[in-house]
Amino acid sequence: MSAELIKIDKNDPDQEAIRRAGEIILAGGLVAFPTETVYGLGGNALDPHASEKIYAAKGRPSDNPLIVHIADLAHLTPLVREIPPSATALSERFWPGPLTMIFEKSPIVPYETTGGLDTVAVRFPSEPVAAALIRAAGGYVAAPSANTSGRPSPTTAQHVAEDLGDAIDMILDDGPVGIGLESTIVDFTQDPPCVLRPGYISLTDLEEVLGLCSMDPGLTGENAQVHPKAPGMKYRHYAPKALMTIVEGDRDAVISRINRLAAQAKAEGKRTRILACEENAGFYPPELCVCAGSRAREETIARHLYEKLREFDELGTDVIFSEAFDTPRLGTAIMNRLVKAAGHRVIHADGSDMAEKDTV
Ligand code: TXA
Ligand code: MG
Repeated sequence: MSAELIKIDKNDPDQEAIRRAGEIILAGGLVAFPTETVYGLGGNALDPHASEKIYAAKGRPSDNPLIVHIADLAHLTPLVREIPPSATALSERFWPGPLTMIFEKSPIVPYETTGGLDTVAVRFPSEPVAAALIRAAGGYVAAPSANTSGRPSPTTAQHVAEDLGDAIDMILDDGPVGIGLESTIVDFTQDPPCVLRPGYISLTDLEEVLGLCSMDPGLTGENAQVHPKAPGMKYRHYAPKALMTIVEGDRDAVISRINRLAAQAKAEGKRTRILACEENAGFYPPELCVCAGSRAREETIARHLYEKLREFDELGTDVIFSEAFDTPRLGTAIMNRLVKAAGHRVIHADGSDMAEKDTV
């Protein structure tokens, strides 16, 4: 690995390390850093070459725009054409935090950063290391998740090193992130504002401030003709290498169908795993079961989901059968990522959608 890995403590960040990281970004280089959601890969958002470097390091299609990260509310104004009052209200409630807002862009934002779009996504993260780095780097840091395009987003510095260690200059390591799923994205270029990516801040949270807020109809994937509005949401990503199937339905029926499917796959010689919640883990063969977290503490599932998806690759896995984690508050965000990881393979435990046989 050629990137320099620096351990950093959010409660007492090493100012010298932050200053050096900021200088790397100002000089056109790339630094991975922790945020409260996932690790980001930072470059100078106002430098077209830095954005090109980010796309190259991630192997990301260049029509998939980057989020511009700020660490001072006053830095929003220069990036955008106008700020609707409802967006100001939302920023007052949730910034700094896991919320990204989309506006018409101003001329200072290069098209290389916005994937050619006339709009720009802006986020003000709450992680102190992220905020310190953004300030040291001049105030405007473009940062996608710091994974290779197509792999699960990184929730530890080790994940970043695995994917990008040879392609970037520095990694700031502040241990595992707190939330584990990327920020909620709300588009203010439409009226009412529209959620383009569900996250830790739920639709209910947003509606408390905005009154009306819609959900991008392209998100569900139910209608193949309706594409998601955020370019990044159309790709099959967050995916482990194994073929994953999600089984939804009543608890007992799910457990018995997953056990049947897993036994069958194992008998066929496939390296088989099960992704289950802590509450149900005891009902599956222990050697096959990977525990995603607790349904009763749903934030644990969000926090560990990507790490578990990566674990399947490390273990060597051909097929995965997963429970559905449609938990009350974070279920929409968790299932959005899980369904994509499964390439939309969702079946019902009662078998109603698989008339002939359990082939997966
Ligand atoms: O939590 C997060 O948001 C993390 C951390 C690092 O801050 N960042 C992140 O960035 O998830 P990324 O690049 O992995 O995902 C950005 C998403 C993509 O789906 C992209 O298509 C969408 O935001 N996006 C960015 N700018 C957009 C725009 N102008 N219009 C529509 N979608 C946009
Ligand atoms: Mg990403």
